[in-house]
Amino acid sequence: MKREIVAATNNKGKLAEFKKILQSHGFKVLSLTETGINIVPEETGTTFEENARIKAREIFTLAKKPVIADDSGLEVDYLNGKPGVYSANYNTAWLLEKLSGVPRERRAARFVCCLCYIDGSGNEKFFCGTCEGYISFESKGTNGFGYDPVFEVRDGVTMAMLTDDEKNALSHRGNALKRFAEFIRRTSCSE
Ligand code: IMP
Repeated sequence: MKREIVAATNNKGKLAEFKKILQSHGFKVLSLTETGINIVPEETGTTFEENARIKAREIFTLAKKPVIADDSGLEVDYLNGKPGVYSANYNTAWLLEKLSGVPRERRAARFVCCLCYIDGSGNEKFFCGTCEGYISFESKGTNGFGYDPVFEVRDGVTMAMLTDDEKNALSHRGNALKRFAEFIRRTSCSE
């Protein structure tokens, strides 16, 4: 029987990635809607870990099932790591404006994803992943969500120009979810 896990996110882009990646690892992923939960946890933390934990705990209390929550964002070196945990409050237009006139070699950035997993007994564990790249000079591509159209994974190719599978194979969330799936595989072998 497939393991059920609740994906504690209201972000459609994240949910699609959770479903695609975790289903390929044998999970049945339930959205908040499918679980009958209709709340948006308040992100009051100052780190990715804290916010992921807040979301996972709040949903676990209601769902009483294994939960996985993600907090993620974009760290731009030229902006001293901003927008970071506050990425959801900004957008690509703001970012391109902030980096206007900044040369390619000073546009390095990374996506960060921190997952908090809470198992059926309430034990928690964290899995993080990053993806290094550059902020492009203009928006390119239509796949993905958020900052994907301005995040170059290699010369001239933004995350939004990749297929879902290509993005998941190299993304911060893909890396963190692979670590999580490996953990589950290891620990269920010893159960
Ligand atoms: P939060 O984790 O709900 O605080 O939101 C993170 C924000 O970071 C999202 O709303 C996006 O703007 C951005 N973000 C996180 N992951 C990705 C991604 O995979 N692609 C593009 N933007 C992302």
